[in-house]
Amino acid sequence: MLKLAVLVSGGGTNLQAVIDAIDAGKIRNACIDVVISNNANAYALTRAAEHGIDHMCISPKSYESRARFNDALTDVITSRGVDLVVLAGCLVILPPQLIAAYKNRIVNIHPSLIPAFCGKGFYGLKVHEEALKRGVKVTGATCHFVDEGTDTGPIILQKAVGVLPDDTPQTLQRRVMECAEWIILPLAIDLIANGCVTVADGVVKITEQQSETDGCC
Ligand code: GRF
Repeated sequence: MLKLAVLVSGGGTNLQAVIDAIDAGKIRNACIDVVISNNANAYALTRAAEHGIDHMCISPKSYESRARFNDALTDVITSRGVDLVVLAGCLVILPPQLIAAYKNRIVNIHPSLIPAFCGKGFYGLKVHEEALKRGVKVTGATCHFVDEGTDTGPIILQKAVGVLPDDTPQTLQRRVMECAEWIILPLAIDLIANGCVTVADGVVKITEQQSETDGCC
């Protein structure tokens, strides 16, 4: 059974998608060990509490230095024996020692088709604003492993979402979440938990057939 730590900062709809997929048996052989937020007011913590999942706030603001925060967050994750760290709308910069210790064991969900609209400063609504400004006709979401860069790690799954003529950043964000993020994040966790994902030379290979990412919605 793969032990997950889910790191959040806000509403936690991606966390909810993971909880629901575990309950529905769509994620097999994985359980959420702990939900950690850098923001004490994140609704994601309420979602964890409502599901009886251990949860806590570890905020850089509560520590005298970034190094102390980095140690605290890394200690909690390693001491609990977490196997996979899931960044689900997590806006905090991860401790370098955590990234080193969890190579190809941290996944992130990003609301665009990487390498478009990603990297420093591309988070939240900004991603969708830029996609609309550029006039792309297709966008989507990417689930990827986390490395030392910003959105540069090996890509696990992507799902395309069409841009509609009257889309606003808000409507596009919602559709990308519903049609792509909430599908590929749980799917990636299931594939990892069941030994279907390998990484060689920075490229992910998936050994199980899956159709959920086909087409464009
Ligand atoms: C999502 O668009 C996710 O891709 C981004 O944060 C947004 C909100 O996520 N990283 P959530 O509702 O807190 O899961």
